[in-house]
Amino acid sequence: MTERPPVVELRNVRLQFEDNKVLDDVSLAVEPLERLVIMGQSGSGKSTILRLVLGILTPNSGSVFFKQFEISRLRRRKLQQIRTHIGMVYQYSALLSSRNVRDNIALPLEELTRDTPAEIDKIVDEKLEMVGMADVKDQMPSELSGGMRKRVSLARALVMNPELILFDEPSAGLDPVISSVIDELIINLSEKSKVTSIIVTHEMDSAFRIGTKMAMLYRGKIIEVGTPDEFKQSRDPVVAQFLSGSTEGPILEGSQDAIATK
Ligand SMILES: Nc1ncnc2c1ncn2[C@@H]1O[C@H](COP(=O)(O)OP(=O)(O)O)[C@@H](O)[C@H]1O
Ligand SMILES: [Mg+2]
Repeated sequence: MTERPPVVELRNVRLQFEDNKVLDDVSLAVEPLERLVIMGQSGSGKSTILRLVLGILTPNSGSVFFKQFEISRLRRRKLQQIRTHIGMVYQYSALLSSRNVRDNIALPLEELTRDTPAEIDKIVDEKLEMVGMADVKDQMPSELSGGMRKRVSLARALVMNPELILFDEPSAGLDPVISSVIDELIINLSEKSKVTSIIVTHEMDSAFRIGTKMAMLYRGKIIEVGTPDEFKQSRDPVVAQFLSGSTEGPILEGSQDAIATK
């Protein structure tokens, strides 16, 4: 096998908002075709990591790479071009309420490609088919359930055939059955489309279902990285408490907020 560089790499990243140190020397690599799950408490900096990868935020020090490109050093044009290779599924789907399903999915193609309307229609149909939503093309987001909106936002993330997809809390707001269905869909699509992904979540069942690799963020640091099996056997008391959801252990309620000054 030929050696390929990681799809995403964070090297010694520090990031703070005023005096709130969110990421404190974080290093992390995501290899091709991996599904890396980043776990951590609410407010621990999970979404911040995704924003760094997208180049929406710039680290105070350290570097963030997408393949060979150092994100924070790219010119605007190049960054925009790189972003077309990265799909994003937002926490609450973030569909445009004024556009129907078809037009939501067509938007990136309309803005970023020279595809003709007929070509766009074909791609939209294909992606909707992949997420099992071919029938709802003409509906408005408000007419769909949370799970259906999530499927549509998955189709939108796939529309540019990205190499990397970022998922921010994909099961947020979904009931447990629907969230396992969405997890299965994420796995199937990732495998079928040969895409690498980063999934941030605080939901353990979901994390163990989806992840081929896991990382735990706590107090600004990645305190553990490994396979799901390695995680289950972790001796780290924070990881163990997080996995069990126990109130006994080093994680205190509001402990993230104690370092944060909101
Ligand atoms: N743009 C911002 N300006 C100031 N503080 C922020 C900003 N974005 C996030 N934060 C703070 O950074 C910390 C991590 O936030 P976030 O990455 O959203 O956490 P998570 O996704 O793990 O819940 C929180 O304390 C949050 O209040
Ligand atoms: Mg978040």
